[in-house]
Amino acid sequence: MSEDLAYRFPKSFLWGTATAAHQVEGGNSNNDWWEWEQQPGKIKNGDRSGDACEHFTRYPQDFEMLAHMGHNAHRLSIEWSRVFPERGVVDAAAVAHYRDVLETLDRNGMTPLVTLHHFTNPLWLTRGGGWENEAAIEDFRQFAELCATEYGDLVQTWATFNEPNVYAYHSYVLGLWPPERRDFGLAVKVMRNMIRAHAVAYRELKAGPHGASAMVGIAQHMRIFEAWRHWLPLDRVAAALPDAGFNHWILGACTDGRTGPPLGFPQRISEAAGTLDWIGLNYYSRDMVAFDPTAARKLFLRTFARPGSRISDFAMEIYPQGLHDLLVSLTQRYGKPVHITENGVADAADALRPQALVSHLAETARAIGDGVDLRGYFHWSSMDNFEWAEGFSMRFGLVEVDFETQKRTPRPSALLYSRLIRENGLLWSDLRKYYPPALDYFEASSEVRRSSPA
Ligand code: GAL
Repeated sequence: MSEDLAYRFPKSFLWGTATAAHQVEGGNSNNDWWEWEQQPGKIKNGDRSGDACEHFTRYPQDFEMLAHMGHNAHRLSIEWSRVFPERGVVDAAAVAHYRDVLETLDRNGMTPLVTLHHFTNPLWLTRGGGWENEAAIEDFRQFAELCATEYGDLVQTWATFNEPNVYAYHSYVLGLWPPERRDFGLAVKVMRNMIRAHAVAYRELKAGPHGASAMVGIAQHMRIFEAWRHWLPLDRVAAALPDAGFNHWILGACTDGRTGPPLGFPQRISEAAGTLDWIGLNYYSRDMVAFDPTAARKLFLRTFARPGSRISDFAMEIYPQGLHDLLVSLTQRYGKPVHITENGVADAADALRPQALVSHLAETARAIGDGVDLRGYFHWSSMDNFEWAEGFSMRFGLVEVDFETQKRTPRPSALLYSRLIRENGLLWSDLRKYYPPALDYFEASSEVRRSSPA
C-alpha cells in the first residue's frame, strides 16, 4: 500500500473499461449501423466503422494489454447479428468466437460484464420493423436464451440493454441515428418493447444452467438536468421532465412494472416488475435546461453546456459532482447494487482526462461513503473507437489508436488509471493536483487512510 493513499475502494471492487462490439470489432456488416454508414452524409467526415479497432481479431493482445495495466474486469457486448445472422439461425463459429473472447478474459484475470444490446440491430430485425414491432421481443428472448446457455458459466453480470433511452431518443425522436424517425409516440413504443424484451431476457438469463448466480440489469444513461433560470418555474419544469422521462422512466418500469407520465398515460408492464438485480450508470455530463417554445422537435427543451464550464471535445460539461448525486439518487430510489458501466471524456489531447478521471473517482468514493453499494467502475473506453455518428473524430480512449496502422499507444491517463487500480484507491498527490475541492472531504472522512495527510 502506498504511503500516499487517501482513500481505499472496497476490496473486491471491479476496475475496467467499457466497449461495444460495433465500435471496436470491425467488420460488423450484418447490422443496421453498417448499412446506414454506407450512405453518404450520415457519419461525420464520411467515416465508416469498417475495420474499427480490428478488435475482433486483436482481442487477445488487447486484453493482455489491459490486464498488464492491472484491470480486473471488462465490459463488452455480444454482436447479435453475428450470433444470429438470420432470424432463428445460429452461427456456430460466432458463438465459439465469443466463448473464446470470454475465456481469454478469464485467463487474463478479468471479470466480464456482458451487454446483449448495444445500439446495433441485425438487418433481418430492422427489415421486420425493428423495435417498433413487438416480434422483436421474442427474437431477443432467443438471443438471451442462447447467451445464458453458451456463456452462463463464464458470465455472472449481464446488462440486457445499453441505454434504451438514448437509443429511442436518437433514433426515434431526433432522427439522427438509424432508422431516422422523428415520432415521439414511436419512441415511447420502442422503449416499451425494449422494457418487455428486457423482462423476458431477465428470466432467460436467470433460468439458464448457471442462472442462480446471474445478476441482470440495464446500463442506463443518466444526466444531471438543471434548470437554467432557477427562478423561472417553466425552466424548472423543463428540467424535471427529462429527469423523469429520460433518467428514470425505464428504471421505474423495471422496478414496479408501471409506465406513465411524463411519457404517456399510466400503463402496466407487470412482467417487468422486479427485473433489476443491479443498475448500470453511464454518466458523462450535466445539461442546463431551458423551456424553448421554438424547439418543438426537441420537445420544447433547449439543453446546453453551462457557459464557462470545462467542456470536452464533444462539447459536454465535465461535472464530476453529478456522478455522486446520481449514484446517491439511484440508491435512494431503487436500493440496488450499482456499477458505473460508463464514464469518460472525449479528449484527443488527453488534457482533461487525468483530471476527469481523478475527480469522478473522488466523487464515486464520496457516494460510497454515502451508502451506495457500488461494485465496479468501467471507464469509457479502453481505446479510441467508432463513436457512432461522430465516426472516429471523438477520442474516448485511455489508449490512443492509429487507425491506419492499428497501433495502440497508452495515453498518460491510461498509466494514471493503472496506478489507481493497483492502489485500489486515491492518492493524496493526485487529489491535490487534480481535484483540490475534495481534499477537505477526504481529510475529514472516517474512510480516509491517514497515511500522509499533509
Ligand atoms: C454512450 C454509449 C457508448 C459511447 C459513449 C460515448 O452513450 O453507450 O457507446 O458512444 O456514449 O459517447
